[in-house]
Amino acid sequence: TEFISANDLASLMDVNVNEVIKVCLGMGMFVSINQRLDAEAITVIADEFGFDVEFLSAEEEEIDVDAGDSEEDLKPRAPIVTIMGHVDHGKTSLLDYIRNANVAKGEAGGITQHIGAYEVKTKNGAPITFLDTPGHEAFTAMRARGAKVTDIAIIVVAADDSVMPQTKEAINHAQAAGVPIIIALNKIDKPAANPEKIREELSQINILVEEWGGKYQSQEVSAKSGLGIEELLEKVLLEAELLELKANPDRGAIGTVIEASLDKGRGYVTTVLVQTGTLQVGDVVLAGPHYGRVKAMTDHRMKKMKSAGPATPVQVLGLTGAPQAGDRIQVMETEREARELATQRLQLAREQSIRTKKHITLDEIGRRL
Ligand code: GTP
Ligand code: MG
Repeated sequence: TEFISANDLASLMDVNVNEVIKVCLGMGMFVSINQRLDAEAITVIADEFGFDVEFLSAEEEEIDVDAGDSEEDLKPRAPIVTIMGHVDHGKTSLLDYIRNANVAKGEAGGITQHIGAYEVKTKNGAPITFLDTPGHEAFTAMRARGAKVTDIAIIVVAADDSVMPQTKEAINHAQAAGVPIIIALNKIDKPAANPEKIREELSQINILVEEWGGKYQSQEVSAKSGLGIEELLEKVLLEAELLELKANPDRGAIGTVIEASLDKGRGYVTTVLVQTGTLQVGDVVLAGPHYGRVKAMTDHRMKKMKSAGPATPVQVLGLTGAPQAGDRIQVMETEREARELATQRLQLAREQSIRTKKHITLDEIGRRL
Protein backbone atom coordinates (compact mmCIF):
# COMPACT_ATOMS: atom_id res chain seq x y z
CA THR A 1 0.00 0.00 0.00
CA GLU A 2 1.03 3.54 -0.72
CA PHE A 3 0.54 6.13 1.95
CA ILE A 4 1.39 9.70 1.04
CA SER A 5 3.12 11.66 -1.67
CA ALA A 6 6.72 12.86 -1.53
CA ASN A 7 5.30 16.36 -1.14
CA ASP A 8 3.15 15.39 1.86
CA LEU A 9 6.03 13.57 3.48
CA ALA A 10 8.21 16.66 3.06
CA SER A 11 5.63 18.85 4.76
CA LEU A 12 5.20 16.35 7.61
CA MET A 13 8.92 16.60 8.23
CA ASP A 14 8.87 20.32 7.61
CA VAL A 15 11.48 20.25 4.87
CA ASN A 16 11.42 21.37 1.25
CA VAL A 17 10.19 18.70 -1.16
CA ASN A 18 13.25 19.31 -3.32
CA GLU A 19 15.38 18.18 -0.40
CA VAL A 20 13.42 14.97 -0.28
CA ILE A 21 13.80 14.41 -4.01
CA LYS A 22 17.52 15.11 -3.79
CA VAL A 23 17.98 12.63 -0.96
CA CYS A 24 16.04 10.05 -2.96
CA LEU A 25 18.24 10.62 -5.98
CA GLY A 26 21.28 10.17 -3.78
CA MET A 27 19.94 6.75 -2.86
CA GLY A 28 19.17 5.92 -6.48
CA MET A 29 15.40 6.45 -6.15
CA PHE A 30 13.72 8.60 -8.78
CA VAL A 31 10.77 10.21 -7.08
CA SER A 32 8.46 12.94 -8.37
CA ILE A 33 6.68 15.50 -6.21
CA ASN A 34 3.26 13.91 -6.31
CA GLN A 35 4.38 10.34 -6.38
CA ARG A 36 2.85 8.29 -3.61
CA LEU A 37 5.32 6.32 -1.55
CA ASP A 38 5.10 2.91 0.04
CA ALA A 39 5.99 2.12 3.63
CA GLU A 40 9.52 1.04 2.85
CA ALA A 41 10.36 4.19 0.89
CA ILE A 42 8.83 6.41 3.57
CA THR A 43 10.84 4.69 6.30
CA VAL A 44 14.12 5.00 4.41
CA ILE A 45 13.58 8.65 3.44
CA ALA A 46 12.35 9.69 6.89
CA ASP A 47 15.37 8.01 8.44
CA GLU A 48 17.66 10.17 6.29
CA PHE A 49 16.00 13.19 7.87
CA GLY A 50 16.26 11.76 11.37
CA PHE A 51 12.63 10.68 11.78
CA ASP A 52 11.26 7.36 12.76
CA VAL A 53 7.88 6.39 11.37
CA GLU A 54 5.03 4.61 13.06
CA PHE A 55 2.43 2.95 10.86
CA LEU A 56 -0.96 2.39 12.37
CA SER A 57 -3.37 -0.12 10.97
CA ALA A 58 -6.88 0.98 11.80
CA GLU A 59 -8.18 -2.56 11.60
CA GLU A 60 -5.61 -4.02 13.93
CA GLU A 61 -5.86 -1.23 16.42
CA GLU A 62 -9.59 -1.50 16.83
CA ILE A 63 -10.61 -2.87 20.16
CA ASP A 64 -13.30 -5.50 20.28
CA VAL A 65 -15.08 -4.73 23.51
CA ASP A 66 -17.38 -7.72 23.13
CA ALA A 67 -14.58 -10.28 23.05
CA GLY A 68 -15.13 -12.99 25.63
CA ASP A 69 -18.90 -12.71 25.86
CA SER A 70 -20.90 -15.76 24.95
CA GLU A 71 -23.96 -15.46 22.74
CA GLU A 72 -26.49 -15.97 25.55
CA ASP A 73 -25.01 -13.10 27.58
CA LEU A 74 -25.68 -10.61 24.81
CA LYS A 75 -28.77 -8.37 24.91
CA PRO A 76 -29.94 -5.93 22.21
CA ARG A 77 -28.60 -2.40 22.59
CA ALA A 78 -29.34 1.00 21.09
CA PRO A 79 -27.53 2.06 17.90
CA ILE A 80 -24.90 4.77 18.21
CA VAL A 81 -25.17 7.34 15.44
CA THR A 82 -22.87 10.11 14.22
CA ILE A 83 -23.98 12.95 11.95
CA MET A 84 -21.44 14.22 9.46
CA GLY A 85 -21.44 16.49 6.45
CA HIS A 86 -20.17 19.65 4.82
CA VAL A 87 -20.01 22.99 6.64
CA ASP A 88 -23.41 24.65 7.04
CA HIS A 89 -25.35 21.74 5.60
CA GLY A 90 -27.28 21.47 8.87
CA LYS A 91 -25.60 18.93 11.20
CA THR A 92 -26.15 20.96 14.36
CA SER A 93 -29.69 21.94 13.37
CA LEU A 94 -30.59 18.33 12.76
CA LEU A 95 -29.14 17.20 16.08
CA ASP A 96 -30.93 20.05 17.86
CA TYR A 97 -34.24 19.23 16.25
CA ILE A 98 -33.96 15.55 17.10
CA ARG A 99 -33.01 16.27 20.69
CA ASN A 100 -35.70 18.86 21.30
CA ALA A 101 -38.45 16.90 19.60
CA ASN A 102 -37.61 13.76 21.50
CA VAL A 103 -37.20 14.83 25.10
CA ALA A 104 -40.20 14.37 27.33
CA LYS A 105 -42.70 17.23 27.43
CA GLY A 106 -41.97 19.79 30.10
CA GLU A 107 -38.30 19.14 29.84
CA ALA A 108 -37.95 20.56 26.35
CA GLY A 109 -36.14 23.81 25.90
CA GLY A 110 -33.51 25.43 28.03
CA ILE A 111 -32.10 22.93 30.48
CA THR A 112 -30.54 20.67 27.88
CA GLN A 113 -26.89 21.47 28.27
CA HIS A 114 -24.15 20.57 25.90
CA ILE A 115 -22.84 17.07 26.34
CA GLY A 116 -20.97 15.10 23.73
CA ALA A 117 -23.58 12.38 23.44
CA TYR A 118 -27.22 11.88 24.25
CA GLU A 119 -29.91 9.30 23.98
CA VAL A 120 -33.32 9.94 22.46
CA LYS A 121 -36.42 7.79 22.47
CA THR A 122 -38.16 7.48 19.12
CA LYS A 123 -41.96 7.44 18.77
CA ASN A 124 -42.22 3.68 19.21
CA GLY A 125 -39.96 3.81 22.26
CA ALA A 126 -36.79 2.48 20.68
CA PRO A 127 -33.73 4.39 21.88
CA ILE A 128 -31.04 5.87 19.62
CA THR A 129 -27.78 7.31 20.95
CA PHE A 130 -26.40 10.31 19.08
CA LEU A 131 -22.79 11.38 19.27
CA ASP A 132 -22.76 15.14 19.32
CA THR A 133 -19.10 15.65 18.52
CA PRO A 134 -17.82 17.18 15.33
CA GLY A 135 -18.35 14.11 13.18
CA HIS A 136 -14.83 13.85 11.86
CA GLU A 137 -13.41 13.72 15.34
CA ALA A 138 -15.50 10.72 16.10
CA PHE A 139 -13.71 8.99 13.28
CA THR A 140 -10.19 10.39 13.37
CA ALA A 141 -9.22 11.18 16.96
CA MET A 142 -11.14 8.21 18.27
CA ARG A 143 -10.04 5.75 15.64
CA ALA A 144 -6.48 6.89 16.22
CA ARG A 145 -6.86 5.46 19.72
CA GLY A 146 -8.43 2.29 18.44
CA ALA A 147 -11.93 3.17 19.56
CA LYS A 148 -14.81 2.37 17.29
CA VAL A 149 -17.88 4.00 18.71
CA THR A 150 -20.18 4.65 15.78
CA ASP A 151 -22.59 2.06 14.40
CA ILE A 152 -24.29 4.20 11.76
CA ALA A 153 -23.34 7.46 10.03
CA ILE A 154 -25.90 9.98 8.84
CA ILE A 155 -24.39 12.08 6.05
CA VAL A 156 -26.17 15.40 5.74
CA VAL A 157 -26.27 17.09 2.35
CA ALA A 158 -28.05 20.42 1.89
CA ALA A 159 -30.48 19.90 -0.98
CA ASP A 160 -30.08 23.52 -2.10
CA ASP A 161 -26.34 23.05 -2.42
CA SER A 162 -24.18 20.23 -3.79
CA VAL A 163 -22.13 17.23 -2.78
CA MET A 164 -19.12 19.11 -1.41
CA PRO A 165 -15.53 18.15 -0.51
CA GLN A 166 -16.38 17.50 3.13
CA THR A 167 -19.39 15.44 2.08
CA LYS A 168 -17.05 13.15 0.22
CA GLU A 169 -14.58 13.16 3.08
CA ALA A 170 -17.31 12.20 5.51
CA ILE A 171 -18.41 9.37 3.25
CA ASN A 172 -14.80 8.19 3.00
CA HIS A 173 -14.40 8.20 6.76
CA ALA A 174 -17.57 6.19 7.26
CA GLN A 175 -16.61 3.72 4.56
CA ALA A 176 -13.08 3.33 5.90
CA ALA A 177 -14.56 2.52 9.30
CA GLY A 178 -17.00 0.08 7.74
CA VAL A 179 -20.01 1.95 9.10
CA PRO A 180 -23.32 1.94 7.18
CA ILE A 181 -24.39 5.28 5.74
CA ILE A 182 -27.79 6.93 5.60
CA ILE A 183 -28.12 10.07 3.49
CA ALA A 184 -30.18 12.98 4.87
CA LEU A 185 -31.12 15.45 2.13
CA ASN A 186 -31.60 18.50 4.30
CA LYS A 187 -33.14 21.96 3.81
CA ILE A 188 -35.90 20.44 1.74
CA ASP A 189 -38.14 23.36 2.82
CA LYS A 190 -36.07 25.78 0.77
CA PRO A 191 -37.47 26.79 -2.63
CA ALA A 192 -34.07 26.20 -4.20
CA ALA A 193 -33.90 22.64 -2.88
CA ASN A 194 -33.21 20.12 -5.63
CA PRO A 195 -32.83 16.68 -4.04
CA GLU A 196 -32.82 14.92 -7.40
CA LYS A 197 -29.68 16.84 -8.34
CA ILE A 198 -28.01 15.66 -5.11
CA ARG A 199 -29.01 12.05 -5.77
CA GLU A 200 -27.43 12.35 -9.19
CA GLU A 201 -24.23 13.84 -7.77
CA LEU A 202 -24.09 11.07 -5.18
CA SER A 203 -24.39 8.48 -7.93
CA GLN A 204 -21.29 9.97 -9.50
CA ILE A 205 -19.30 9.06 -6.41
CA ASN A 206 -20.81 5.57 -6.32
CA ILE A 207 -23.37 6.31 -3.65
CA LEU A 208 -26.55 5.02 -5.25
CA VAL A 209 -29.56 5.75 -3.05
CA GLU A 210 -32.53 3.37 -2.94
CA GLU A 211 -34.65 5.67 -5.14
CA TRP A 212 -32.00 5.18 -7.78
CA GLY A 213 -31.92 1.44 -7.35
CA GLY A 214 -28.98 1.48 -4.96
CA LYS A 215 -28.40 0.16 -1.46
CA TYR A 216 -28.18 3.43 0.48
CA GLN A 217 -31.17 4.59 2.44
CA SER A 218 -31.87 8.29 2.10
CA GLN A 219 -34.46 10.68 3.44
CA GLU A 220 -35.51 14.21 2.52
CA VAL A 221 -35.64 16.27 5.71
CA SER A 222 -35.95 19.78 7.03
CA ALA A 223 -34.10 20.47 10.26
CA LYS A 224 -36.12 23.68 10.34
CA SER A 225 -39.68 22.36 10.11
CA GLY A 226 -38.96 18.79 11.19
CA LEU A 227 -40.33 17.37 7.95
CA GLY A 228 -39.06 13.83 7.34
CA ILE A 229 -37.10 13.53 10.58
CA GLU A 230 -39.44 10.92 12.02
CA GLU A 231 -38.86 8.88 8.86
CA LEU A 232 -35.12 9.42 9.09
CA LEU A 233 -35.10 7.98 12.61
CA GLU A 234 -37.14 5.00 11.42
CA LYS A 235 -34.52 4.36 8.76
CA VAL A 236 -31.83 4.50 11.41
CA LEU A 237 -33.71 1.84 13.38
CA LEU A 238 -34.12 -0.26 10.24
CA GLU A 239 -30.39 -0.12 9.59
CA ALA A 240 -29.73 -0.90 13.27
CA GLU A 241 -31.95 -3.98 13.08
CA LEU A 242 -29.81 -5.37 10.28
CA LEU A 243 -26.70 -4.87 12.40
CA GLU A 244 -28.19 -6.90 15.29
CA LEU A 245 -26.38 -4.75 17.83
CA LYS A 246 -25.85 -6.52 21.12
CA ALA A 247 -23.80 -6.21 24.27
CA ASN A 248 -23.52 -7.90 27.64
CA PRO A 249 -24.95 -5.65 30.36
CA ASP A 250 -23.92 -8.02 33.18
CA ARG A 251 -20.22 -7.35 33.39
CA GLY A 252 -17.78 -4.63 34.36
CA ALA A 253 -18.26 -1.67 32.08
CA ILE A 254 -15.99 -0.80 29.18
CA GLY A 255 -16.58 2.37 27.23
CA THR A 256 -15.03 5.26 25.36
CA VAL A 257 -14.35 8.78 26.54
CA ILE A 258 -16.24 11.27 24.37
CA GLU A 259 -14.98 14.42 26.03
CA ALA A 260 -13.70 15.60 29.40
CA SER A 261 -13.21 18.90 31.13
CA LEU A 262 -12.54 20.47 34.49
CA ASP A 263 -15.62 21.97 36.08
CA LYS A 264 -14.99 24.48 38.86
CA GLY A 265 -17.62 23.10 41.17
CA ARG A 266 -17.67 19.45 40.24
CA GLY A 267 -14.07 18.59 39.41
CA TYR A 268 -13.24 16.55 36.34
CA VAL A 269 -16.34 15.78 34.31
CA THR A 270 -15.93 12.98 31.80
CA THR A 271 -18.55 12.16 29.18
CA VAL A 272 -18.45 8.45 28.61
CA LEU A 273 -20.21 6.20 26.19
CA VAL A 274 -20.64 2.84 27.85
CA GLN A 275 -20.21 0.15 25.21
CA THR A 276 -20.52 -3.04 27.16
CA GLY A 277 -21.32 -3.90 30.75
CA THR A 278 -23.00 -1.58 33.22
CA LEU A 279 -21.21 1.31 34.86
CA GLN A 280 -22.25 1.87 38.50
CA VAL A 281 -21.73 4.66 40.96
CA GLY A 282 -18.90 3.49 43.23
CA ASP A 283 -17.04 1.61 40.48
CA VAL A 284 -13.29 2.10 40.22
CA VAL A 285 -12.37 3.08 36.66
CA LEU A 286 -9.26 3.53 34.59
CA ALA A 287 -9.47 5.97 31.67
CA GLY A 288 -6.35 6.61 29.63
CA PRO A 289 -3.74 7.85 32.10
CA HIS A 290 -6.37 8.71 34.76
CA TYR A 291 -8.39 6.76 37.27
CA GLY A 292 -10.87 7.26 40.06
CA ARG A 293 -13.98 6.07 41.83
CA VAL A 294 -17.24 7.07 40.15
CA LYS A 295 -18.71 9.58 42.60
CA ALA A 296 -21.80 10.44 40.63
CA MET A 297 -23.27 10.07 37.16
CA THR A 298 -25.74 12.25 35.26
CA ASP A 299 -27.46 12.08 31.89
CA HIS A 300 -27.50 14.97 29.41
CA ARG A 301 -30.35 16.61 31.29
CA MET A 302 -28.30 16.53 34.48
CA LYS A 303 -30.54 13.86 35.94
CA LYS A 304 -28.72 11.66 38.44
CA MET A 305 -28.09 8.07 37.40
CA LYS A 306 -27.02 5.12 39.52
CA SER A 307 -26.05 2.88 36.63
CA ALA A 308 -25.56 3.09 32.87
CA GLY A 309 -25.79 0.09 30.55
CA PRO A 310 -24.52 -0.50 27.01
CA ALA A 311 -24.87 2.37 24.48
CA THR A 312 -25.73 4.80 27.27
CA PRO A 313 -23.94 8.14 27.39
CA VAL A 314 -23.18 9.45 30.89
CA GLN A 315 -21.26 12.19 32.57
CA VAL A 316 -18.98 10.74 35.19
CA LEU A 317 -17.60 12.59 38.20
CA GLY A 318 -14.63 11.41 40.22
CA LEU A 319 -11.66 10.99 37.87
CA THR A 320 -8.22 12.30 38.81
CA GLY A 321 -7.81 14.12 35.51
CA ALA A 322 -9.28 14.68 32.06
CA PRO A 323 -8.70 11.81 29.64
CA GLN A 324 -8.77 12.45 25.89
CA ALA A 325 -11.59 11.79 23.47
CA GLY A 326 -11.25 8.22 22.29
CA ASP A 327 -9.53 6.95 25.42
CA ARG A 328 -10.91 3.70 26.69
CA ILE A 329 -12.52 3.66 30.10
CA GLN A 330 -12.89 0.44 32.00
CA VAL A 331 -13.88 -0.81 35.41
CA MET A 332 -11.04 -2.19 37.53
CA GLU A 333 -11.10 -4.59 40.45
CA THR A 334 -9.17 -2.43 42.88
CA GLU A 335 -8.22 1.20 43.22
CA ARG A 336 -4.61 0.19 43.65
CA GLU A 337 -4.50 -1.62 40.32
CA ALA A 338 -6.14 1.35 38.61
CA ARG A 339 -3.69 3.78 40.16
CA GLU A 340 -0.68 1.74 39.14
CA LEU A 341 -1.77 1.41 35.54
CA ALA A 342 -2.70 5.10 35.35
CA THR A 343 0.72 6.09 36.71
CA GLN A 344 2.48 3.86 34.19
CA ARG A 345 0.49 5.35 31.33
CA LEU A 346 1.16 8.88 32.49
CA GLN A 347 4.85 8.13 32.61
CA LEU A 348 4.75 6.62 29.14
CA ALA A 349 2.85 9.60 27.76
CA ARG A 350 5.44 11.96 29.20
CA GLU A 351 8.29 10.04 27.64
CA GLN A 352 6.51 9.92 24.32
CA SER A 353 5.81 13.63 24.25
CA ILE A 354 9.52 14.23 24.58
CA ARG A 355 10.24 11.89 21.69
CA THR A 356 7.43 12.94 19.35
CA LYS A 357 9.35 15.95 18.07
CA LYS A 358 10.90 13.67 15.53
CA HIS A 359 8.18 11.19 14.98
CA ILE A 360 5.58 10.68 12.29
CA THR A 361 2.45 8.62 12.60
CA LEU A 362 0.59 7.51 9.49
CA ASP A 363 -2.56 5.51 9.19
CA GLU A 364 -3.89 3.56 6.28
CA ILE A 365 -5.40 6.45 4.38
CA GLY A 366 -2.35 8.54 5.02
CA ARG A 367 -3.78 11.19 7.28
CA ARG A 368 -1.57 12.77 9.82
CA LEU A 369 -2.86 11.91 13.27
P1 GTP B 1 -21.13 23.72 10.81
O1 GTP B 1 -21.19 23.20 12.20
O2 GTP B 1 -20.65 25.13 10.72
O3 GTP B 1 -20.38 22.83 9.87
O4 GTP B 1 -22.62 23.79 10.22
P2 GTP B 1 -23.78 22.75 10.42
O5 GTP B 1 -23.67 21.68 9.40
O6 GTP B 1 -23.89 22.36 11.83
O7 GTP B 1 -25.03 23.62 9.97
P3 GTP B 1 -26.05 24.39 10.92
O8 GTP B 1 -26.95 23.44 11.58
O9 GTP B 1 -25.32 25.34 11.74
O10 GTP B 1 -26.90 25.13 9.81
C1 GTP B 1 -26.34 26.10 8.94
C2 GTP B 1 -27.41 27.08 8.56
O11 GTP B 1 -28.42 26.43 7.81
C3 GTP B 1 -28.13 27.72 9.75
O12 GTP B 1 -28.38 29.07 9.43
C4 GTP B 1 -29.42 26.95 9.86
O13 GTP B 1 -30.46 27.68 10.41
C5 GTP B 1 -29.69 26.62 8.40
N1 GTP B 1 -30.45 25.37 8.26
C6 GTP B 1 -30.11 24.15 8.73
N2 GTP B 1 -31.03 23.24 8.39
C7 GTP B 1 -31.98 23.88 7.69
C8 GTP B 1 -33.19 23.48 7.06
O14 GTP B 1 -33.61 22.31 7.07
N3 GTP B 1 -33.91 24.44 6.41
C9 GTP B 1 -33.50 25.73 6.34
N4 GTP B 1 -34.25 26.58 5.68
N5 GTP B 1 -32.37 26.14 6.93
C10 GTP B 1 -31.61 25.25 7.60
MG1 MG C 1 -22.55 22.69 13.48
